[in-house]
Amino acid sequence: MQQPSVSPRNDGMPLWLAIVAALLLIACLVLEGKRLTIKPGPPQTFDNPVAEFKYGSIGAEWDGFPYMVWRELPAIFKDELPEGWRTFGFIEEPGQELPIGFSIRRVGVPRVGFNCATCHSAEVTAGGNTMLLLGAPAETLDIQSYILFLGYVAASDKLTADAVIESAAQAGRPLGPIDRLLVRTILVPGIKDQADGLATAFSWMKVKPRHGPGRTDAGNNWRARWGYGPEKDEAVGTVDFPSVWNQGIREGGWFHWDGNNNSLIERNYSAALAGGAKEWLLQRGLIDAQAEWLRDLPPPAYPLPVNADMAADGAAIYEREGCGTCHDPGGESFGQVTPLSDLQTDPARSDLFDDAFVSRFGDVGKGYTWRFSHYRATDGYANTPLDAIWARGPYLHNGSVPTLRALLSPPEDRPATFYRGCTDFDPVDVGFACESGFLFDTQLTGNGNGGHLYGTGLPDGEKSALIEYLKSKQYAGRS
Ligand code: HEC
Ligand code: HEC
Repeated sequence: MQQPSVSPRNDGMPLWLAIVAALLLIACLVLEGKRLTIKPGPPQTFDNPVAEFKYGSIGAEWDGFPYMVWRELPAIFKDELPEGWRTFGFIEEPGQELPIGFSIRRVGVPRVGFNCATCHSAEVTAGGNTMLLLGAPAETLDIQSYILFLGYVAASDKLTADAVIESAAQAGRPLGPIDRLLVRTILVPGIKDQADGLATAFSWMKVKPRHGPGRTDAGNNWRARWGYGPEKDEAVGTVDFPSVWNQGIREGGWFHWDGNNNSLIERNYSAALAGGAKEWLLQRGLIDAQAEWLRDLPPPAYPLPVNADMAADGAAIYEREGCGTCHDPGGESFGQVTPLSDLQTDPARSDLFDDAFVSRFGDVGKGYTWRFSHYRATDGYANTPLDAIWARGPYLHNGSVPTLRALLSPPEDRPATFYRGCTDFDPVDVGFACESGFLFDTQLTGNGNGGHLYGTGLPDGEKSALIEYLKSKQYAGRS
């Protein structure tokens, strides 16, 4: 005769499972509540620096999304992510578990985090070929939309433990009983608990101009972390992702877009912190290894033919116009700041990073040997090298000018709006030529496309020669 079930569910939980569950629950509560007391698992290792750059850890998984849930989001939220993670412009390679720019590491459970490749690698399509350029500005990545999406996920009714469990099963990776329990009791509830916090932390993003692909506002991110309430003011610090190859030639100069720091180590550490690494757990070995590789990473060669005669004419014009005094290593003002009074580009990013901001930045790393001590406020933007400038459009610190030809035009002739976020390279005007995507509006705060008048008065033929020269602009690499 069949025993009547005492459990209201017909898959009644055996006692051993209940005990395991209770123990797990306690373990996880300790884990979640006091993550400070546990150490992350070892980072994944890779057998070459390219894979390390793409998928290695910089220690940013600490409060990262649990991987078990994260990998089901494209299926659960397929309406919001019609192209999976590519919807936000992440780059995926066949056969890889994660998009480029994500690492995975156990912090209690496996979690995902950003790494240097997130914001510093791009695909570019030129002459019918799509190339992956490591160290390039992540032109298609809309990191703001990704971050807002995670907040949306946390608050959404669509995110349930059942949805995660079912999606995993459908994808052919069914979760075992312990993982199911974790998803039900810890992971999904943990994400939901963060919904209000995420909404508050990123509320400033909803009242300031959208960053769009290829840009981020690290300044306001710091201000939000420090409790400045950036949602209450007009300050904007949105910048284009820079290229990070060939860092060796930038050593000792004043860089970051506004030239606020002359220590390469601090620029690397601040980038890692902005990407999710933690002050009290700064994985210096991992970051230093990435930085060491970037120091000598060669800029990508121009992928299409160059007209050598025209480029030679362009080199002479570049010389005559004095571009190299600011832009070439060894130039008189290389690695220095050109004040806004001369430069006249959009002031917002430089203004945000003022003395008060710098003195607060000085507290970053307090109590640690690496504490930041090289920051300063400036009144302009840095004279940067132009290595592989062909792959670095749209131009200027705020990405407000789509092509080199537009940059050599007087501001009133530069496009007032244009699309960003595609990979299509334009070999004539040099930059990206997007026919759709995110509409960049130069009228919005921080998006101004004025200034940098150098070369704007040249005859058209000379501009074309100068552009031809800039296509393959490189500096003798350090070996
Ligand atoms: C979330 C996106 C993001 C991640 C992740 C990131 N960076 Fe960056 N990085 C930026 C942005 C944005 C800037 C420009 C900041 C500015 O000047 O305002 C920058 C600037 C830099 C610079 C200074 C470049 C220059 O010439 O001025 C270096 C060097 C750098 N990053 C290295 C790294 C390294 C190394 C990592 C990994 C440890 C990393 N970044 C991770 C977004 C990122
Ligand atoms: C007095 C110094 C100075 C001179 C001279 C100068 N530039 Fe610049 N250049 C800058 C600064 C500073 C920036 C960054 C401005 C900003 O982002 O707001 C810049 C930006 C650029 C950029 C865009 C870089 C990027 O990553 O988006 C290009 C391209 C460029 N300059 C080319 C030239 C050319 C070509 C000439 C000569 C015709 C020239 N510059 C002359 C200071 C100078």
